[in-house]
Amino acid sequence: MNTIMTSKAYEAARERALALLETMTLTEKLGQLSQFGTSIYSDNEQTFDDHFTEGKVGSYLTIKGAQRTNGIQRDLLAATRLPIPALFADDVIHGYRTTFPTPLAQSCSWNPEVARRCNEIAAKEAYRAGLKWTFSPMVDIARDPRWGRIMEGYGEDTYLCSRFSEAAVKGYQGDGDTVGKDRIYACMKHFIAYGACIGGRDYNTADMSMQTLHDVYLPPFKAGIDAGAATVMSAFEDVNGVPATGNRYLLTDVLRGELGFKGFVVSDAGAVVELIPHGFAEDIKDAVRLAFGAGCDMIMAGDPYNDQLSALIEEGKITMEQVDASVLSVLTLKYLCGLMDEPYVDEDGEDCFFCDEHMDVARKAAHETAVLLENNGVLPLRPADMHGKKIALVGQLAGAEGKNHLLGGWSCLCDPEHTVSIEEGLQNALGDVCELVTVRGCGVNCADTVEAHERESASIREAVLAASQCDVIIAVVGEEAGMSGEAYSRSDLTLTGHQGELIDALVATGKPVVLLVSAGRPLILTPYKDKVAALMLIWQPGSSAGSAIADLLMGAVSPSGHLTTSQPVCTGQVPIYYNHTNTGRPALGNWQFESKYRDCQIAPLYPFGYGLSYTTFAFEDIRLSSDKIMADGEIAVTLTVRNTGERDGAEVVQLYIRDLVGSTVRPVKELKAFDKVYLAAGESREITLRLPASELAFHDAAMNRIIEPGKFKLWIGECCTDERYEFDFEII
Ligand code: BGC
Repeated sequence: MNTIMTSKAYEAARERALALLETMTLTEKLGQLSQFGTSIYSDNEQTFDDHFTEGKVGSYLTIKGAQRTNGIQRDLLAATRLPIPALFADDVIHGYRTTFPTPLAQSCSWNPEVARRCNEIAAKEAYRAGLKWTFSPMVDIARDPRWGRIMEGYGEDTYLCSRFSEAAVKGYQGDGDTVGKDRIYACMKHFIAYGACIGGRDYNTADMSMQTLHDVYLPPFKAGIDAGAATVMSAFEDVNGVPATGNRYLLTDVLRGELGFKGFVVSDAGAVVELIPHGFAEDIKDAVRLAFGAGCDMIMAGDPYNDQLSALIEEGKITMEQVDASVLSVLTLKYLCGLMDEPYVDEDGEDCFFCDEHMDVARKAAHETAVLLENNGVLPLRPADMHGKKIALVGQLAGAEGKNHLLGGWSCLCDPEHTVSIEEGLQNALGDVCELVTVRGCGVNCADTVEAHERESASIREAVLAASQCDVIIAVVGEEAGMSGEAYSRSDLTLTGHQGELIDALVATGKPVVLLVSAGRPLILTPYKDKVAALMLIWQPGSSAGSAIADLLMGAVSPSGHLTTSQPVCTGQVPIYYNHTNTGRPALGNWQFESKYRDCQIAPLYPFGYGLSYTTFAFEDIRLSSDKIMADGEIAVTLTVRNTGERDGAEVVQLYIRDLVGSTVRPVKELKAFDKVYLAAGESREITLRLPASELAFHDAAMNRIIEPGKFKLWIGECCTDERYEFDFEII
């Protein structure tokens, strides 16, 4: 596959980097491997200007803005012997200023083009602000919503995550020969298995079989690397006993060897020094030896490489060749993106922030990312039926106070001022067709004092009174932005504060309640599912939240999002994921001696892949090109998808397989292809889903990647439990 990392431009950049490398002192080389800047753990911006003269700064993180980055760059270049500009990086996760739905939400679109387009704009805005590199995408498989960082990734499924991974990388870097104007380098993170931290506790141990590591956690990284990802970030946690950041097997043998990665690895923030508390390194010097020796080229953030590597070279523990190889990778990327030739960014380029085009992309992305889970027909709210009526809009997240939270965690330089609240969006859509009554009801959280609880209960009574005089109630509940993301693991995924009480009281009015859930992660919605008239996960939809949600509620567009994480019944049910193995005692509900909990249902509340629309679809004339393939063959599944309803909409056609007998046990279902089909009312289209046998490969007990002959089931469905269309095939 041709990518920027295999382009002629890359080779040319490498040649220039080699020539420069020969002129550098060791101190200057180590500087290129050191990144500085504002830590996410503090607000103090540190530029380390005292390092400039010796050339000890290679990169910055979290410093942004065209003027600011140009200023630092100017000072740095004026002070150093060799004019090597710094590479400015940041966490541009779901938008730079214009903020898009969170990555988890984006995955629910089942349309990788959404991720590509959002990242393309994120890259453009970031580039205009002087950045050349983002610490994104996060492609950690996450099967446990207690882990707050589930919001930063693309859900629980390896195949789906891989498709988003490649799209995300191409969005940032583009598809061309170089990462030029309005493009930034991607960084695949966190290598690897960070999402598997025990119990969803952030930074915690990942302990898994090598087969799971390679078959479940690795493919999204491979997909991003094949798409040309220039950099990778090493993870914080220990993987099977060896911290990822000091793990030579992972960072060198697997990443560079097996996956063919050619760029450079940056450590996660502080992860090198953290090899000490891990009990893996004796002291900082030892930590640097282990991390750098493992293949961690650049350190985020600080001086340990600057301070320790020369002694380690003198002692023969690290070689000059190793240092040169790392510096060469960094310099090559500096040449490749044009930084060496043009270290400054145009200071007039920032006027594209929040422009109509970008806000429109955010709005369209949010159309596709919301997942409709229940609807008794109350939705859409047809403007024609709403004349003279009253809609109650309830919840902290619904009005102005909610703006910040609708942007979600890890929103880079977002701006609530430029966010359309749900109230504003609905008000704009409704005009004077009907009255919108906005009441707070209660907050997402409540301080644990008697007064605070009393205040919330009083506020709920007030909201209920107002809502009971309306025709429809729209309640917005969920999480504040800061309640998911890094270091926000939760042991209980039920609604916080008085939100449950609020929903119950609103339902008790007898008016139809449309429940919108805005959160970074799946929450427990079991108590409300059957009580409300409609239930929609809107996640954290970003800057155009209100406009998009109004479009969905009023039927300007049909919801088309589908779950990419199994929706748990209760917190005790997690981790729950659809592609589990069967066990010798599968949970079939037949008798007590099965692998299940006795105090909750076996199935999740909603399965992976589930999502409703305002229209209906039919799959017709499904046929397989063959029911027998060779290990290098492919099955093409062709079918006609018909929109059988009266509204335009989009259907996600999902292809699952099951390998019935394997030399190691196989998952009960695995997604292997999907297509999102956009159809006008009544329209139909023939599509073909391709299943190459290579997608059926897995690692056997001896860690050989094999494609095993044998019998398979294949399903075409609307979600992972849809078994209406079942087929058999065989690898011969
Ligand atoms: C996070 C990374 C992030 C880095 C820089 C770390 O704490 O784990 O995902 O890119 O900070 O902000």
